[in-house]
Amino acid sequence: MKLRRIVSVVFLVSGIASAESPRPVASHPPTGASQGGARGAVILPGGSPVKSRISFTNEVSRILQDRCQTCHRAGGIAPFPLVTYEDAFNFRDAIRYMVETRQMPPFKQSKACQSMKDDPSLSAKEIETIGRWVSNGAPEGNPAEMPPAKSFPDIWTAGTPDLPLAMPQPFTPDFSNGDVYRCFVMPTSTTEDKWVTKVEVLPGARAMVHHVLLYLDTTSAAEELDARDPGPGYACFGGPGFTLTGGLGGWAPGNKPMELPNGLGMSLPKAAKVVMQVHYSARGGILEPDVTQVGITYAREPIQREYRALPIVNQTFRIPAGESNFLVTQSVPFVPASITLYSITPHMHLTGKAMQVEATLPGGAKVCLSNVPAWDFRWQGTYFYETPLQLPIGFGLSLKAWYDNSTGNPNNPHSPPRDLTWGEETGDEMCIAFLGFTLGGPVTAASADADLAVVEPPVPSKAKDWADLAGQRE
Ligand code: HEC
Repeated sequence: MKLRRIVSVVFLVSGIASAESPRPVASHPPTGASQGGARGAVILPGGSPVKSRISFTNEVSRILQDRCQTCHRAGGIAPFPLVTYEDAFNFRDAIRYMVETRQMPPFKQSKACQSMKDDPSLSAKEIETIGRWVSNGAPEGNPAEMPPAKSFPDIWTAGTPDLPLAMPQPFTPDFSNGDVYRCFVMPTSTTEDKWVTKVEVLPGARAMVHHVLLYLDTTSAAEELDARDPGPGYACFGGPGFTLTGGLGGWAPGNKPMELPNGLGMSLPKAAKVVMQVHYSARGGILEPDVTQVGITYAREPIQREYRALPIVNQTFRIPAGESNFLVTQSVPFVPASITLYSITPHMHLTGKAMQVEATLPGGAKVCLSNVPAWDFRWQGTYFYETPLQLPIGFGLSLKAWYDNSTGNPNNPHSPPRDLTWGEETGDEMCIAFLGFTLGGPVTAASADADLAVVEPPVPSKAKDWADLAGQRE
């Protein structure tokens, strides 16, 4: 929040917040080929002329296409497009500020922890390119060098799914109290247990759909919650409102479809209901009916390992009202199994400040699993490791989470602050990180042959304890 205020100042200083001057006129070099070779030549304070050829058409447009337009385009989740030269020129100072401070593209994991897949962060060179372009007056460049417009398909990109699911009817959120979190129950009606290898989410109203989380329900709990709440789905904030029996991952803008490595599968018990939580963002000022879809693809090959999730969680904390840096911890000292860790999903609510999850190896060495130093409730998700982590039998887990439950936290849901405990509501807190893993080492060509079909039939991963992993098959 504090950062946003700084950015508003940037807008004001550069005058680009003003809606009355949509087109920059005199403050940048005229565009077009007539400018010849002088375009982009600048004299540095030292006096030496430096030829800089960075322009919108030759470099900056490409960075915006690759790194920004998943959200900053017509109908995208960001409040303005960054597609045309005018778009970029109008926001040049804010763009530079947001990329230099690494607030955009949004990515909340610390780089010092682990390399994550789908990390959208700009390289140092891309940030420098944008900075130099702005310093040089943000020239347009030669229109002939402009890359073709990037297209963003609104169709299944990971192939036609075996089981396409959709919300039962279109849902139009009511933003009168801010953002809306809603859960939709989608029956699978499958008659046997299945292994899932691919999950793709297709948001309907992209300008509103901020993120999606997929839970599984093998009971009638979600349907009962749905029946009690008028309209499609039911209100749900921090979680789906029932005891979890499993999940199928999630989606945020820019995520690719989730495809498990060969040989791994997620269990989809027969007749389970997929409960889809959608966060609708009020920020774009757009209101339209949404039908978000989920495409599920089943395993074609035998599965060697079940991809499953277990949490490290503290549900018994009390965060005193007024505390601005309150630490909640949890640890699992000894896990009696070796695992291959693929992903981590840290989760807190609105007073969360930072969270770290660490593994301790049997020899005492520490491995960072997740470090979100500046928690932002609106930018959360599942992080997949670039290289899955091997944790040997006897490893331990520890979690540290910090909360700001003071009046100084503009996101505090209570004014005046109240003591906060575990719960599903907007005014409650959570302290949890889900680990996505398989038992045993990675599936290799050798182990695939040896272990063919060693996996037991899918078991709905109930809230099993880490300790229960002992004795389970690799
Ligand atoms: C994953 C979606 C996403 C991506 C990718 C993304 N943005 Fe944004 N951007 C947003 C949203 C949403 C906002 C509105 C503020 C917010 O919700 O945090 C925003 C706001 C901004 C702002 C205004 C700052 C403010 O707080 O008002 C600038 C400038 C910006 N983005 C630039 C960029 C640039 C440059 C890139 C690429 C290098 C980029 N963004 C990539 C979603 C995105």
